[in-house]
Order: sequence, then structure tokens, then C-alpha cells
Amino acid sequence: MKKKIPTHIAIIMDGNGRWAQKRGLPRNFGHRKGAETLLKTVRYANKLGIKYLTVYAFSTENWKRPKEEVEYLMNLPFQFLERTNKEFKNENIKIKIIGTKNKLPEKLINKIIEVEKNTENNTGLNLIIAFNYGGKEEIVSAVKRLTQSNLEINEENLEKFLYTENIPNVDLLIRTSGEYRISNFLLWQTAYSELYFTDVLWPDFNKKCFDDALNEYNKRERRFGGLK
Ligand code: FPP
Repeated sequence: MKKKIPTHIAIIMDGNGRWAQKRGLPRNFGHRKGAETLLKTVRYANKLGIKYLTVYAFSTENWKRPKEEVEYLMNLPFQFLERTNKEFKNENIKIKIIGTKNKLPEKLINKIIEVEKNTENNTGLNLIIAFNYGGKEEIVSAVKRLTQSNLEINEENLEKFLYTENIPNVDLLIRTSGEYRISNFLLWQTAYSELYFTDVLWPDFNKKCFDDALNEYNKRERRFGGLK
């Protein structure tokens, strides 16, 4: 039987800190390795023909971490985008960053604008990086804008004001590191997602882990509240 490939996969990339600590390394080493894993995962998802991959890189709650770690996490996407800007353009990958831009370093904001523009006509994988993102905040801001518009208040119209406007809801949500939580990620968009949890720490997540998640997804029967 032909395998179903989910249109939209979302990943909570958890366990970087533990990966580093297990090796007696500072937590930031885990984040650095996590960024390499992200790059490999993006390429693999593109190769498989997945249309949307949304990854959780920094939540609105992550500001509570020590200053040094926050600074590191602010700098990583800059390096990642600087490195991949040209490569992703050639690989037909389109990049979008979602979340609130306020509080982000100006250097990063400018890089985001540059990369989004540079890859805007690409038609392969859409890589969506959730950065300074919070699901509740996203919904509140969408509600505010919807009430300021002349549109009727309903689900379809509310979706027009989410960061994910025109992006289909999530089919499969993966969380690594053995934690079973949603952690304020894509609350609206995961209402009917299949959830997949693995004990693997994010830096160790590889093609085989990705395939395992896809195989499990293929066993699920999606009914969206209806009957078979
Ligand atoms: C959770 O692990 C991970 C994060 C808060 C950061 C995710 C960031 C990356 C994977 C880096 C790559 C991102 C980009 C955009 C280049 P944790 O630190 O909470 O791990 P722990 O639960 O083991 O402490």
C-alpha cells in the first residue's frame, strides 16, 4: 500500500539541554547540535515531498531561561539563516518565521526579512520557524484583529488572522525527549493532529526516527470526529 505523506508536520524539538548534560557539556552545545539536526531534518522532509514543516525554536516562555542561554538561542537562528539563505533558495525551500518580532535583536529581524524575501518564490518545502512564538498569544492577537475587521466572527475568518494564514492545519505533531505536552505550540492548528511522542532527544533525531513517526502516522485512522 502506498504511504500517506502528511502535508503539514510540526515538531517540538525538545531535549537539547539533556543531550549536552548527559555528555558533561554545557547546554548550549545541545542547542548547536540541535540546529544541525534541524538542517538535516529539513532536507529530508523536502526530499520526501512534505509541503509544510513547522518547528518550535523559541517560545514566549523561553525568556525565563538564564541570560546566557537566551542570548545563545537568539543568535542560533541568525547563524542558521545566514548559512542556509543561499542553499535553501537553490533547494527550492521557502522560509517563514512566525511569532512576535518585538524583543528580537534587530540584526535577526533584518536577516528574517532578507531570507523570507529571498526564498519567497520557492515551491518546495515550506519551513516555518516558530520563534518567540506562543499559541495563546497568537489566538488573542487574531481575535483582536478579527474584531477590528468587518468580518463575521467564525472559525474560517479567525484563521485568516493567525500567523499560519493560508497554511493547512497540522497533520502530525512530533515531540522528542519523552515529554508529553503541547507547551503552547500551535494550539489552534493542532486541534485534530495526530500526536507522536518519542524518547529520542532532539539532537539524536535522524532519518530513521522520522520514518518511524511517518509509519506510525500511517497506522492512524483519522476521523475528525466523524465515523469511519
Ligand atoms: C528545547 O530543548 C529546545 C529549545 C528551547 C530550543 C530549540 C532550538 C533548536 C533546536 C536550535 C535550532 C533552531 C534554529 C532555528 C536554528 P531544551 O533546551 O528544553 O532541552 P531540555 O528539556 O533537555 O533542557
